[in-house]
Amino acid sequence: MAKQKVAPVTQEEDLVLDQTLRPQRLEEYIGQEQIKEPLRIFLAASKKRRETLEHVLLHSPAGLGKTTLANVIARELAAPITTTSGPALERVGDLASILTNLEDGQILFIDEIHRLNRIIEEVLYPAMEDFRFDIVIGKGPSARTVELKLPRFTLIGATTRAGLLGSPFRGRFGVTWRLDFYTAGEITKILERSAKILGVSIEPAALEVIAERSRQTPRVANRLLKRVRDYAQVKSDGRVSPVLAEKALQMLEVDEKGLEKMDRRILETIIGQFRGGPVGLQSLAALLGEEEENIEDLHEPYLLQAGFIVRTPKGRKATPLAYEHLKLEHQGTLA
Ligand code: ADE
Repeated sequence: MAKQKVAPVTQEEDLVLDQTLRPQRLEEYIGQEQIKEPLRIFLAASKKRRETLEHVLLHSPAGLGKTTLANVIARELAAPITTTSGPALERVGDLASILTNLEDGQILFIDEIHRLNRIIEEVLYPAMEDFRFDIVIGKGPSARTVELKLPRFTLIGATTRAGLLGSPFRGRFGVTWRLDFYTAGEITKILERSAKILGVSIEPAALEVIAERSRQTPRVANRLLKRVRDYAQVKSDGRVSPVLAEKALQMLEVDEKGLEKMDRRILETIIGQFRGGPVGLQSLAALLGEEEENIEDLHEPYLLQAGFIVRTPKGRKATPLAYEHLKLEHQGTLA
């Protein structure tokens, strides 16, 4: 069977299934308790006052449920939602047509909002603050600005890099919430729910095997569950035991800590080529032949979270845990 990459990125084939696995209501949404409680109050207060919800900024590493939460918020408010992303909004006209087509109370969800270009960002300011859109008509001395009134919408922005948003932009959101990595117990619950929806017959201990290797990330957990299900259907009668789950994950080259091939290569490079670091992102990316952004967005957050690397002002360093995990000696050479 061909090797499959299990990166925390959304792949086409999984998109449809992801839709069926995503919780629709806040009640079904597992984890992120630090957000759900204030969110419940926020939603109830805005309903009570019959006011549009203030703009919300969600930030976290990839795959932790920002898009899901945005859709849950819309569903809880019974409000329509329009979804777009920073890179998709290239011209002011793109944004103008979206904004002028919104209804009162509608949610506008902008994913990867840190990738909006400056011009669009500036057009968004009056839209967010005063529900106003300024169109410049004509050029040169005869140019004039026409002010367009917009419906009262709620912007939900999602980003993996809150630090890349300028403070004037961040200041225009009523609330900012950071989603955390999930506990093993929460991931197990998410897997249990997903297995039920997908009709997978799986032993509780096998759910734990998958949960342990899911990088504390629901998107990864659900993807691994689907791959394990494929394996069980082909190699046995479809029922998933812990031993079978382990074999499937071994085939996918996901190790017992949930690290995949690229994660291990990152650690091996820091240790083998840089004696454990510190090493700058650029050098690391060049040696690995991988995009800096992929390393930073897809691999590093979990390596940091799990304590395999630390970030210092001079760059990334491998921790003793990384040496131990890769069974390498501390001198920075392969044992
Ligand atoms: N699927 C993905 N994220 C989830 C979450 N937080 N709760 C329940 N199911 C999920």
